[in-house]
Amino acid sequence: MAKIVNTTTLAAMKRAGEKITMVTGYDYPFARLLDQSGIDTILVGDSVGVVVAGYKDTLPVTVDEMIYHGRAVVRGTERALVIIDLPFMSYQISIEDAKLQAGRIMKETGAGAVKLEGGVTMQETIRALVDIGIPVCGHIGLTPQAVNQLGGFKVQREKDRLLKDAAAVAAAGAFALVIECVPSEIASEISRSVEIPTIGIGAGSGCDGQVLVLHDMLSLFDRFRPSFVKQYAHLGEETKKAMAEFSREVKSGIFPGPEHSFK
Ligand code: KIV
Repeated sequence: MAKIVNTTTLAAMKRAGEKITMVTGYDYPFARLLDQSGIDTILVGDSVGVVVAGYKDTLPVTVDEMIYHGRAVVRGTERALVIIDLPFMSYQISIEDAKLQAGRIMKETGAGAVKLEGGVTMQETIRALVDIGIPVCGHIGLTPQAVNQLGGFKVQREKDRLLKDAAAVAAAGAFALVIECVPSEIASEISRSVEIPTIGIGAGSGCDGQVLVLHDMLSLFDRFRPSFVKQYAHLGEETKKAMAEFSREVKSGIFPGPEHSFK
């Protein structure tokens, strides 16, 4: 079996110039599939609130929900590093709160790390978590938990601020940094400027790795599709076809046949 991935593996991958893959996962069957496919890290993103629970954004997601999904993913994973998002308002109030909630997530799921959103403003929080042994992945650029502050899901272009945010996250001891919806040239410059691996989403090819939301890349979510997403399969259409076929067979008496019945 391929080597088990941890935070130091990712650092070594950056040093070796090997690209890192991250995909979101929210449940046991997909965690097994992602892990068996050789994906390096599975992110239990708070995007679960949008693509699984159907909320309009990630803000309503709770720590308990992250723990529920995180446990399922950890149970389905043998090789990949599992990272779990700290949801909105679980770490912004105080550092004590952040320690408590991140600690709960690590303890109750068995995940390898947490992720939180924010740059300079989150530097002390990241440092406090790292100091008590909780590996932290940062997240800058378009930070969806701040969608109301940012005025929508928009590309972030303030180069100086982004460079400062990245430097603050790295200096605080984060082991990796997600960069979301940032022009390629800026994301490349950030990736060169920090020692920790950068994982881009809508941030071009100059990052040290790439992350996509599972339901976007498999076309399982049709409410909207960001322009940076590539659809690698069309499981939404496949599912509809399968259900129509099942329906037709049941209604016409084809299913269940003798091979699917007990004598
Ligand atoms: O919640 C999530 O899925 C994320 C990714 C977009 C990086 O944070």
